[in-house]
Amino acid sequence: VRRVTVRDIAAAKERGEKWPMVTAYDAMTARIFDEAGIPVLLVGDSAAMVVYGYDSTIPVTVDDLVPLTAAVVRGSRRAMVVADLPFGSYQASPQQALESAARFMKEAGAHAVKLEGGRRVLPQIETLVASGVPVMGHLGLTPQSVNVFGGYRVQGRGESGERLMADAKALEHAGAFAVVLECVPADLAERVTAALSIPTIGIGAGPACDAQVLVWQDLMGLNARPPKFVKKYFDLAGEMSRAIRAYADDVVNGVFPSSEHTYA
Ligand code: KIV
Ligand code: NA
Repeated sequence: VRRVTVRDIAAAKERGEKWPMVTAYDAMTARIFDEAGIPVLLVGDSAAMVVYGYDSTIPVTVDDLVPLTAAVVRGSRRAMVVADLPFGSYQASPQQALESAARFMKEAGAHAVKLEGGRRVLPQIETLVASGVPVMGHLGLTPQSVNVFGGYRVQGRGESGERLMADAKALEHAGAFAVVLECVPADLAERVTAALSIPTIGIGAGPACDAQVLVWQDLMGLNARPPKFVKKYFDLAGEMSRAIRAYADDVVNGVFPSSEHTYA
């Protein structure tokens, strides 16, 4: 098996094929998603919430995310592994962006990086691409800017939609190989998808995007209060709660371990 590459991603758009992306933060889940055929795994800075227990993505660092990315690379064989550059690891300068991306690639084996923002991060994207780093963009609700937005709310309504369109075109022109559109109206995402030759990856951006992404804990039902755009495919919280109670009862009642799980 060989890894999915940016060329495969580009070819999918030319063929009009839709594809799924999902987050991963550890080797065992990465392996399950990889063997299910998910072509791109994202080690999101959403790890700040779903792994580290923070209430936003702001606090998480490159040091926090590199070991998770390394685990996802080790757990997968075919997927392209994209690492999120966390807040404060790329905004200062193109040099800072390259140093951060290099850590994900050299220490963890990431195949690409993602960063948030439009025209304000073009110098970073150009430097990364010129240095051989595939870059995924991220527009709309960019959670690292939650304190500017004043909450997690839909972006790109009204005339700000034209700014988002211009940002998306600028990202493509700077060499990004794909762009995440988060929490934007479906008609705007449809227009951006039609205007770009690189794929759009929607999350809360409607059905017209070339790809979709979800945080795996959201789609598996581990998150008690998921956003509106999440479809719950499993009740993992309920199943885990049931299983852990059964285990606890068995221990308390002396049912586990039985002879079956005991060395003579
Ligand atoms: O951090 C993350 O999980 C993301 C996706 C939801 C796009 O950026
Ligand atoms: Na992210």
